[in-house]
Amino acid sequence: MAEIIQGSIYDYPKYYDLLFGSDWKAEYEFLQACMPIHCSRPVKRIFEPACGTGRLLIKLAEAGYEVAGNDLNAKAIDFCNDRLVRYGFPASTVVEDMADFKVKKKFDVAFNLINTFRHLPDEKTAEAHLHCMAAALNKGGIYVLGIHLEPTKGNRMEEESWSARRGNLAITSYMWSKGIDRKRRMELLGITLDIYTPTNHQRIVDHMDYRTYKHAQFKSLMKKVPEFEIAATYDFSYDITKPHEITTTTEDVVFILKKV
Ligand SMILES: C[S@@+](CC[C@H](N)C(=O)[O-])C[C@H]1O[C@@H](n2cnc3c(N)ncnc32)[C@H](O)[C@@H]1O
Repeated sequence: MAEIIQGSIYDYPKYYDLLFGSDWKAEYEFLQACMPIHCSRPVKRIFEPACGTGRLLIKLAEAGYEVAGNDLNAKAIDFCNDRLVRYGFPASTVVEDMADFKVKKKFDVAFNLINTFRHLPDEKTAEAHLHCMAAALNKGGIYVLGIHLEPTKGNRMEEESWSARRGNLAITSYMWSKGIDRKRRMELLGITLDIYTPTNHQRIVDHMDYRTYKHAQFKSLMKKVPEFEIAATYDFSYDITKPHEITTTTEDVVFILKKV
């Protein structure tokens, strides 16, 4: 029988990082490939809002970029900074709200993948975030933003599962949609993390609210942030040779927002 823990999966950075950290390669290679194509300036400094454990920041730091980030969760930031320092880099991530921050020195590239932007609960915070991001970027820099849109035709994806193992620790996660509150434009998601060691089985039970975006709603938000233009769109296959044109059935999109 599993020991049940009601809590936020983000409060368990070691488990989060094992589960999602193994999935870094496609995103990392895509980000690297985007730079010479979409960024019209040399790339030295890279920023990740809501960076969590910094599973991609650490790889980019190792590749020679100056990296920084922020996140609301102090446990994730501690984990991220500890690892950066352990690998010989500055502790360059801070506890901050991605909808209310300023940077001291601007960046050339920023990224925010796997739906994290949808944590912002309303139009006001989403717009505030995009203004902060524009202010944090040099002109000609890019913000790579990956989200699931709500398709207007066809079925949307209703569940996902991941698993990972390191030594004796194995983790399986399951995320499912509990439905959409149309009035609030909120999708309620359930998520469980099953953590197995040879002698123990724990289950963290969590839920999240993700704001929903139809393509037209995203475009209407972008009109309020003229500092950015949509330079290109891709999907979660992260194939730089295959830009993706958004249709009524499109769900996963990676927007390349260029600071003009
Ligand atoms: C799905 S995780 C993504 C972490 C990381 N970007 C990655 O790709 O692994 C979402 C993160 O967003 C953070 N978060 C949620 N709302 C936030 C906000 N308003 N400002 C900063 N971080 C936020 C959470 O604490 C969590 O670490």
